[in-house]
Amino acid sequence: MTGRTVLLALLLPIGFAFANGDGPATLPDREDAPTVGSNAEATPPPRRDAFAFMPRGGGDLLPRVYGTPEARAEVLARTQSVEDWQADIAADAPDMPETEARTLAAYLANVTPTTEAELPPDGRTLALRHCQSCHSLFTGYLMQRRDRQAWLGTFASPFHGPIDMSAQEKAIFADYSAINMPMQVGDVPAELRF
Ligand code: HEC
Repeated sequence: MTGRTVLLALLLPIGFAFANGDGPATLPDREDAPTVGSNAEATPPPRRDAFAFMPRGGGDLLPRVYGTPEARAEVLARTQSVEDWQADIAADAPDMPETEARTLAAYLANVTPTTEAELPPDGRTLALRHCQSCHSLFTGYLMQRRDRQAWLGTFASPFHGPIDMSAQEKAIFADYSAINMPMQVGDVPAELRF
């Protein structure tokens, strides 16, 4: 498409809307048109996880220890204490860093028995999903040092009433956060430090 064709394609629907009497009160800024046009033709940028700097949650760690669907099915069908999960993970993945092993053990203690298809979101996913719509993730989450009980306590504040998480999700979130937060300022990308 030439630039002229793109512009025409953009303007046509506006003309049509006006003809029907329900057009916009003001035309879009002139500079807007070429931006939209070139966006439409550009190949989308490669996907990249802007939050890759955050410690992995149980959902990402599970397949690192239990690599096959069969192994995961067997593990997820079990129920046991967090201490027993830690002992199993230490035996099955002796090289896993301690913080990750504790994160996975806590996650498994919260979610089992279950199946891979029904696996609830992990703490990292829950924080990204629920903690950045009203304030920054950096101040409200990444820089907070709290134990499990204090993380659960954040849900008691009246202003946190709208957060829609099940009791199980709150437990998963509190365990992940107590183990993995706060982060070091230097480990957070500069553009997220607000
Ligand atoms: C519905 C909006 C909303 C959402 C969603 C939200 N917060 Fe907040 N949060 C607030 C408001 C309002 C305050 C108080 C004013 C302020 O400090 O900005 C606050 C304050 C805080 C504080 C400091 C005060 C305190 O309670 O200790 C923390 C920590 C916090 N939020 C954590 C979180 C976490 C963790 C999540 C995700 C689970 C979250 N927030 C999601 C609205 C929200």
